[in-house]
Amino acid sequence: MFNVDDSALAETEAPGIRSYLAGQENKTLLRFLTCGSVDDGKSTLIGRLLFDTKLIFEDQLAALEQDSRRHGTNGEDIDLALLVDGLEAEREQGITIDVAYRFFATAKRKFIVADTPGHEQYTRNMATGASTADLAVVLVDARQGILPQTRRHSIIASLLGIRHIVLAVNKIDLVDFDADVFERIAAEYRSFVADLGFRTVVPIPMSARHGDNVTRGSDNTPWYSGPSLLEHLEVVDNEAAPGPRPFRFPVQYVNRPNHEFRGFAGTVASGAIGIGDEVVVAKSGRRTRVKRIVTYDGDLERACEGQAVTLVLQDEVEVSRGNMLVAADARPAVADQFAANVVWFGEQALLPGRMYLLRTETDEVSATVSHLKHRVNIGNFAREAAKSLELNEVGVCNFSLQAPIAFDPFEENRTTGSFILIDRLTNATVGAGMILHPLRRAANIHWQALDVSKASRAAMKHQKPAVLWFTGLSGSGKSTIANLLEKKLHAAGRHTYILDGDNVRHGLNRDLGFTEEDRVENIRRVAEVARLMADAGLIVFVSFISPFRAERRMARDLMEDGEFVEVFVDTPFEECAKRDPKGLYARALRGEIKNFTGVDSPYEPPEKADIHLRTLGRAPEDIADEVEEWLRERGYC
Ligand code: ADX
Repeated sequence: MFNVDDSALAETEAPGIRSYLAGQENKTLLRFLTCGSVDDGKSTLIGRLLFDTKLIFEDQLAALEQDSRRHGTNGEDIDLALLVDGLEAEREQGITIDVAYRFFATAKRKFIVADTPGHEQYTRNMATGASTADLAVVLVDARQGILPQTRRHSIIASLLGIRHIVLAVNKIDLVDFDADVFERIAAEYRSFVADLGFRTVVPIPMSARHGDNVTRGSDNTPWYSGPSLLEHLEVVDNEAAPGPRPFRFPVQYVNRPNHEFRGFAGTVASGAIGIGDEVVVAKSGRRTRVKRIVTYDGDLERACEGQAVTLVLQDEVEVSRGNMLVAADARPAVADQFAANVVWFGEQALLPGRMYLLRTETDEVSATVSHLKHRVNIGNFAREAAKSLELNEVGVCNFSLQAPIAFDPFEENRTTGSFILIDRLTNATVGAGMILHPLRRAANIHWQALDVSKASRAAMKHQKPAVLWFTGLSGSGKSTIANLLEKKLHAAGRHTYILDGDNVRHGLNRDLGFTEEDRVENIRRVAEVARLMADAGLIVFVSFISPFRAERRMARDLMEDGEFVEVFVDTPFEECAKRDPKGLYARALRGEIKNFTGVDSPYEPPEKADIHLRTLGRAPEDIADEVEEWLRERGYC
């Protein structure tokens, strides 16, 4: 984006510039973001800050510019170099979705503001853009005061670990610089956020448009004695909690250019490490010591928080990408179940039981919400019972992962305590999570190793276990075909079982209806049962509508490779409605049954089923023969 030739600068004979840049390095950095509703003036405010500080910046640089011109370097370069500096540091942080980071500086401090454009997906941009922010500027329109959005953004800011809030009561000029309006909004906001745990909350009356109290005080608000926004940003204490934090080094990749060298590359997420220090591989508990700390600019004695390095260890230990090297005397939790705060920004609701991809700084694992503990009411913080989290909602969930990960509570470490959730079909980022604590239950339940194995059970039956998963509309013929097929295999001496939707809903799944949440849980349970039956060595037929791709995918992932066979019983809706074997279509079309698949509840056909059966005009026996043939060719029966 910016083409800056550093070498020209390095070679210049201008000592003034060098000391100036050295001074820049020593300045503290404040990261902040702005949030507000549409038209509250977010962009104007950022524009105003960038514009005004540039003027200040240039004032201050005027002398240096002259200096550098004399020495053949363009004064502009200084500014650009700083910009690049800030942007690149930010890019290394990883999670940046539709968020532009803008850099600016004053004589006292450097700033990075996460500019999160777009109104629709605001929560998503905020949650991702704020992953490292120290402060949030919450904008309200003085004419409108606190809105539900203001509350939502403030709660999310608190969950994201942001410690400082500026309440920018903007457009104060449009209420004639009325002190009462400002005081009323400030008081309402203060009482609202009292329990959110912010360290400072500073309301400022402002006009971003005209610059009142943005970078300097305003004659229009003589009744306001506090700082301007910039004055406050320059002094607010952004130090993290005092005291050293334990060493955490999420491994980005294994660096192995040749047989002699094997290093683990990543960025120190917290704490520090020196040569000879003992470290532990978080997931395996293996101990070793640091032999070298390698960087592009040569070896280091020590590396601390924020530094990107490659660690070479004394022993040949196994550390894969996604694992962490950690302090031996302060290890993170390693678990496959934990509780977390979740901010949801998926178009489709978060559903317990549905499988998502959970991605931490360096690790990635499939995960489901095993229990949605509560949703947070944005108006009064009340914990409400909920079956799903809709777009922009916030809640506390228990997670169950397919494999353990290493983590810290978010409160202790924002890097190793956070994750994002990804929809596995669309690859969209749909949620952000802040881990609260591991769940004890997970630590106390261990997998019991049994001596009779799946293989031996299957061998005794002379068959290869399989799960034939029939999906299709109600009345499409799933059960009829599965039934015919089972008869054939049974007659041939195979050990089989049919799990049929209607039947399982009489027992195990008696408590479930036909809402989206209930269908997800319906499929999760039957997939687990099918897995147990396959483990027992059986050939299992599952005959469920199973309308959602995500759950069919989840079922496939539960089974061993090649064990799951997706059979799409493809009968057009009109045909099913005409056959209507149970009279349900007629009732659903009259509106007497709610959430009926194909009527007012969706069916997502498989994109690529293993067996695609177009049933129209064919006899069920023919179709069953076709499936039997398919299975025989592949050695299933
Ligand atoms: S699934 O969508 O959760 O997979 P499942 O296969 O268990 O559904 O159950 C579907 C059966 O329940 C249908 O064959 C039909 O007999 C009956 N049923 C009753 N109400 C509905 C409904 N609203 N939608 C679909 N099927 C329904």
